[in-house]
Amino acid sequence: MTAKRIAILTSGGDCPGLNAVLRGTVRAANLLRWEVIGIQEGFEGLLDGGKHIRLDLTNTAGIMHLGGTILGATNKGRFISKRSGGKKATIHPDILDNASRTLSGLDVAALVVVGGDGSLATALQMHRAGFPLVGIPKTIDNDLAATELTFGFDSAVGCVADALGRLHTTAASHRRIMVLEVMGRHAGWIALHGGLSGGGDIILIPEIPFDYARITEAIQKRETEGATSHMIVVAEGAAPIDGRPTFQSMGGGDYRLGGIGDRVAREVGRRVGREARSCALGHLQRGGHPTPLDRILGTRFGVKAVELIEQGRLGTMVSYCCGQIGHVPIADAVHHMRKISSADQMVLTARSVGISFGD
Ligand code: F6P
Repeated sequence: MTAKRIAILTSGGDCPGLNAVLRGTVRAANLLRWEVIGIQEGFEGLLDGGKHIRLDLTNTAGIMHLGGTILGATNKGRFISKRSGGKKATIHPDILDNASRTLSGLDVAALVVVGGDGSLATALQMHRAGFPLVGIPKTIDNDLAATELTFGFDSAVGCVADALGRLHTTAASHRRIMVLEVMGRHAGWIALHGGLSGGGDIILIPEIPFDYARITEAIQKRETEGATSHMIVVAEGAAPIDGRPTFQSMGGGDYRLGGIGDRVAREVGRRVGREARSCALGHLQRGGHPTPLDRILGTRFGVKAVELIEQGRLGTMVSYCCGQIGHVPIADAVHHMRKISSADQMVLTARSVGISFGD
């Protein structure tokens, strides 16, 4: 494809590494003498003539180390194609027409959509409606089946490890149980990697329903071995074997996870008879500087997206496998989650160093 001008947007929740993607895309496009238009505030910026800026070597210089996205993002709005709980929605044809007029008016040959599963589902609907586009996967949860790694994950894990380091000293001083609630709606990758690298003693993830009796036993065993404080890492989507995830209804069938850390602290503290406190790391995991790994991955993803457009491979998504950047059809990538299997080597390694999953 001899694109002269391409557009890029960042959609859904932000994460560290998005600016590296923008910078990488602009630099690769510049070598082909293509212009890049940055669509602002996610898909919403495609409507009513568009909200956009020209991205060039100058205004993308010095942004790689910054968290967030200089284009802004939204996970609400008129393009929603997936709601909480995985329910699908169809984008209204008027919205698609509106966006199509904007891109034609801007003389854009192809659009790069950077987003998570919901945004890629939107991209798929748009591609099927005739939009020339490619996707770049983004989620700190690292739970998309079609790519082994997404940028933002490593930065989030670093944040969890750092938090655990800080909690360790205060837990030890007060001989407390400390519970750290981390992100991870459907998959516990952040809890698993963060817990393992930060010295967690018990890791609770959505894929392995936990039993309070087993957690109590694990703590009692640690006490007989001389431990006087205990670190529990719990993913926000984790739930006890006989219960449901802890969430707050936001109305309209949408919900927001959060609160399992408090519950675990209360129940485990009561059962063990030791003071327990909880701390929810929340959006701290999504902010701050991306790690070098996320900067490199974001750059590689941006460069690959330009290459896919140049090769005319539209309707595809950049992906990472065994150290290499490749691509897959977006249609094969959406709605397929990568969850932790109980036989995963990381789970086995964690068990081998005495970590309990509360099962
Ligand atoms: O999917 C990424 C994620 O960070 C989840 O881990 C988390 O549950 C969710 O987004 C939070 O989204 P919001 O910022 O919209 O509350």
